[in-house]
Amino acid sequence: MRAYRGHLIHIGGSPRLDSAREHLVSVPDGVLVVNDAGSIAYSGSYQEMPAYPDTEMHDCRPGFLLPGFIDTHIHYPQTHCIDSYGGGQLLDWLQHCIFPAEAKLADRDYARDVARDFCRRRVAVGTTTALVFGSAFPDAQDTLFEESARIGLRTISGRGIQTVGPEAAGPLLTDDDTAIALTHSEIDRWHNAEGGLVKVAVVPRFALSVTGRTLHALGELYDAVRGRGVYFHTHLSENVTEIDAVRTTYGVENYLDTYDGRFDGGGLSLLGPRSVFAHAVHCTDGELNRLSETGSSIAHCPTSQLFLGSGTMPWRRTVASGVNVALGTDVSAGDEWLIPRVLNDCFKVHISEPGGQGLSISPAALLFTATLAGARALQMEDRIGNLDVGKEADFVVIDPRCQPLLSELLTPIAPDDADRLLFTLLLSMREDAVGGVYVRGRLLSPR
Ligand code: GUN
Ligand code: ZN
Repeated sequence: MRAYRGHLIHIGGSPRLDSAREHLVSVPDGVLVVNDAGSIAYSGSYQEMPAYPDTEMHDCRPGFLLPGFIDTHIHYPQTHCIDSYGGGQLLDWLQHCIFPAEAKLADRDYARDVARDFCRRRVAVGTTTALVFGSAFPDAQDTLFEESARIGLRTISGRGIQTVGPEAAGPLLTDDDTAIALTHSEIDRWHNAEGGLVKVAVVPRFALSVTGRTLHALGELYDAVRGRGVYFHTHLSENVTEIDAVRTTYGVENYLDTYDGRFDGGGLSLLGPRSVFAHAVHCTDGELNRLSETGSSIAHCPTSQLFLGSGTMPWRRTVASGVNVALGTDVSAGDEWLIPRVLNDCFKVHISEPGGQGLSISPAALLFTATLAGARALQMEDRIGNLDVGKEADFVVIDPRCQPLLSELLTPIAPDDADRLLFTLLLSMREDAVGGVYVRGRLLSPR
C-alpha cells in the first residue's frame, strides 16, 4: 500500500451538476491510501486513517490532491499546430491550417513524434483520461495507442473519418467501404486493450466531412459494436456558417438530425450514453432535449470557441435541459492543454453572457465539469472522476510551491474555506504546479 498525505479536494458520490456544491469534499489534512491493485482503499482525514501495515507514506504537503483531469475533446493530430496563423473561423481554419497539418501524419516517423509530444503534454498537465479525436491514418493511430499504453494514460480514440471535403482534405479522405473497414479493424485491435486503459470511438469528423451514405453505414456499424462499449464522438453545432451548410447539404432543420438518423436516407441513431458531442454552441432546445433523453454528453470547449470566434454555449439553457456537460480543451483550436486553464475561460465567458444570462459558476461546479462529468460522459464513473474509496487511483498532486505566487495566493485562505481555496486554485494554477500524475496508482513519467 502507498499513502499520499495532502489537502484532498474532490466531488464525492455521484451528484448532478446542480448539487455539486453539497458534494464538495475538502479535507485539509487528508490522505489517500492506494492498494497494490491501484484502487483507493482509504480517502479522508489523516487523523482517522486506519492502521495499514507496510504502508509507504508520501508526504505531499502543502500540496493538494485532486482527481485526474478528464479532457473529453482533444485532437491528437493537431499537437503541432496551436495558434495557427491566418485561419479565421472554423471552415476556413480547417481548410487552410488543419487539413494540411493533419495530412503530415501520413509519415510514420513524424506521427511517432507527434504521438510522443501529445502524450507528454497530457502528463505535464495532469490529463489522466482523454477522449481523443484521432488521425485519418491507421499507423498514426497505432502509434498513439502504443505510446499512451507505454506511458500508462487512459485514452479513448478513433480514426477521424472523412469521406468528402475540399481539396486540402484530399489526403485524409477514403471511400465509405474503406472507412467502415478501418474503423472495424481499429475496434478489433484496440478496444479494451492494455488492461482497459485504451478504448476506441467511432469518430466521423463532422457532418460536412462525410455523406448521408457514410452516416447511414456508421449507424449500422455503431449498432453492431455499441454492446462492446465502443464510443461515438464528433463535432456538433459549433459555428453558424457550418450549421447553415449542414442544413442545406442534408436538408434537415436541426444539425443533430444528421447524427440521429433523421434525414433522407438516414438510418440508425448514433446518440447514446457513450456518445460525446463537442461544442453544441448553437443548439435548439429540441436538440438539447434529445441529447439529454438519449444520455449523450456535450464536451464544452470555451477556449476553442474564443479562438475560432464560434460563440458561447448558453450555459443556463444547456444545463437546464439535463444534458451532461463535460469539458474539452479542443487542442488545437483550443490553445490550452491544462484543463484548469479551460475552466478559467469557462468561468469568464459564462459570467459575461449577455441578456441577463450571465452567471458565476461555483468552484464545485467547475471541478465537477472537469472531473466527474467527464467520467460520466465516458461511462467510467464507477472507476474514475473522484477520490471515493473503491475507485481507481487516478489523481494529480498540485504543489503550490512550484508556481510563482501560487503559495502567496493560497496561504492566506483558511484551509476550511473550501470554496475560496478551490476557486483560487482552479483559476490561478498553471502546469508548473502539477507535481505528480497518477493513473491506477502508478506515477506517470513523461519519458
Ligand atoms: N469541426 C470539424 N473538424 C474540427 C476540428 O478539427 N476542430 C474543431 N474545433 N472543429 C471541427
Ligand atoms: Zn474539435
